[in-house]
Parts: sequence; C-alpha cells; structure tokens
Amino acid sequence: MFSEWEANIPRLLGEGAFGAVFKWKSPVGYLAIKLLRNYGIPSSQLSVYFKDEWQLLESLGFHENIAQLLYRFTFKPPLSLLKSITDVSLLDNVAPINEHTQQREPRSCSFLGLEYFSEGTLQSYLSKVRQSGQWSVSRLLEICYDIAKGVKFLFDQRIVHRDMKLDNLLVTRSGVVALCDFGLALQLPDQQMIARLSISDAKGGNINHLAPEVRRAKANDNQEVEIPYKFQPSWELGVLFFEISFDSFPFDNIDKLIPPDVRNQAQQHPSGMTFPEEFLDLIQRCLCVDQPSSRPTVKEICSLLESIKTDLSLNH
Ligand SMILES: Nc1ncnc2c1ncn2[C@@H]1O[C@H](COP(=O)(O)OP(=O)(O)O)[C@@H](O)[C@H]1O
Ligand SMILES: [Mg+2]
Repeated sequence: MFSEWEANIPRLLGEGAFGAVFKWKSPVGYLAIKLLRNYGIPSSQLSVYFKDEWQLLESLGFHENIAQLLYRFTFKPPLSLLKSITDVSLLDNVAPINEHTQQREPRSCSFLGLEYFSEGTLQSYLSKVRQSGQWSVSRLLEICYDIAKGVKFLFDQRIVHRDMKLDNLLVTRSGVVALCDFGLALQLPDQQMIARLSISDAKGGNINHLAPEVRRAKANDNQEVEIPYKFQPSWELGVLFFEISFDSFPFDNIDKLIPPDVRNQAQQHPSGMTFPEEFLDLIQRCLCVDQPSSRPTVKEICSLLESIKTDLSLNH
C-alpha cells in the first residue's frame, strides 16, 4: 500500500512536539498519517507521553467526538515524504545523516493512520465561520456539546487529555468536532483521578488550559508530583467555551487567575449575539478558581448543554 506514496506524496498538515502529520489519499480514502518522533529511543527512556499515544487510542473504542485511530504501522518512509518536514530535530530522528555519504537515511518509523478531518482544526474553522457570517448561538452550543461529549467519554474511562486547546480539536466536513492529539493523555488508576508523576512527566501540555490546582501541584521529597486531575476537565471545558464564545482568553494574567465576569463579557461582546443565561452561568461555574469541587461535573455539563440546546430550538 505504501509503495504508492512515491506516486502520491502526502501533504504536510502540521508539525508539533510529537511528530508530523500528513494528509494522504490512500486506496481506502483520505487518511491523516502521524509520524511519531519516538523511534529509536529505548522504551525505558521514553517519557510516559511518547509510549502511550497509540496504546491509549487503541484501547479507547469508538466515539464520534474522538479522532479515530484506524491503522498503526512501522516502515521506512521514503525521502520524498520527509522533504516537507522543516523541524530539523524530527528529521535527524527519523532520517539521520549518514556520515560517509552525507545523505539522510530514513529509519523504520512508527505511524498512526487517523481519520482525516477535512475542515482542519477548530481554531482555523472558527476564524472561517466567524468571517462568513454563518456564526450563531446554536452552532456555538453544538460545538461545545461535541467537545463536552468527547471529554466525558474520556473522563468515564478516567482519562485526562492534558493538552486541550483549539488546535487539538478537529472538524469534519459535516461540522462534527472531535478531540485529537493524545500525546500527553493519561489514564489514572482510580476515581480520585490523582496522578503521581516524575517532575519531567508532570510538565508539558498547554498551561493556559490547566486548572489552578493542577498548576499548583509541587514535587514532594521523593521528587514525585501528585496532581489532582478530577476537576481539570470541567475547568478546561470552561476555558474552551469562553474562548469559542467570545474569541478571547478568560484571564488577563495567567499567573494570577481572577475569574472573569462572564455575563458582563457577553453583554459587551461586539457580535451582538444573545447568549442563553444558563450557558453563561455554566461557563462561570466551570471557571471557579478557589473551589474546584464546586465546578459542575462533566456529566452535568453534558446534560445542561443538551437542555440549553433543546430550549433554544423550541424558542425558534
Ligand atoms: N486527523 C487529522 N485530520 C486533519 N488534520 C490533522 C489530523 N490530525 C492532526 N492534524 C493536523 O496536524 C496538527 C498536529 O497534529 P497533532 O496530533 O496535534 O500533533 P502534535 O502532537 O505534534 O501537536 C494538528 O494541529 C492539525 O492541524
Ligand atoms: Mg497538537
């Protein structure tokens, strides 16, 4: 199947901390191929992140709001595929330069074959939709509901994503939003959702979407960090809902989190959109800084969004 790569070179979609992603027209339809950076590093030296992305994806099962892993394979990529990669450290990893020939020689690499999302990231989708004049409260609520369902699916399996942001959410042709990039995701041992990580594994991810209690976690004498993740998903949903609603970040100063006045924000919003009061309350409660346990649960967030959506459609 991959001999066809030479004839039909995949197009680079994105490069990031964990590798590079290409769009490829395979014999079975379009796929997003993610080249993982981890090849050649002994398993014992890999951080928890690298090891787990495909294992976690394979164990998840199907959900409409999670980018599906369809294939996983290992082979030597042709140089033509690697030509578009600009990240030199990634290139050095997957195709080091041979000292004698001074040519790059591809090594056998791990690839993930993922469902391809033709509308790209939610970040780029939103800027397009906002400009097109198609933006509406009902579309906003659908997107938030999709994300909440994806997060709930993970939460029910005690999984925290840890890198939630608009760039790690993808949109299908029909407008369904799904979570992707499980490079930092962790499955926790029990319902308490406390992770015990080494200092290096505790770091990483997107600090802007980490709950205050997660960011405050400090290493103990054994150089181990105990991180309480139970209320993180509700917090990150609050941050994302705020960003999607108001096209801005909820906090002026990320080091000193002062909760925003969400209603006030909505009234001042230049779009003139009328946001349902219950939705604004929901965001406000998710962004509770001092008492994580008073944030609504992910389950509650899903059912509230469902009823707000229904009320909205009945009133129109
Ligand atoms: N399944 C996909 N369909 C379409 N584009 C994708 C897909 N997966 C990833 N991308 C694009 O590639 C970028 C990087 O992918 P991601 O999985 O987030 O890798 P990284 O771990 O390097 O951040 C994404 O932000 C998106 O632009
Ligand atoms: Mg990413």
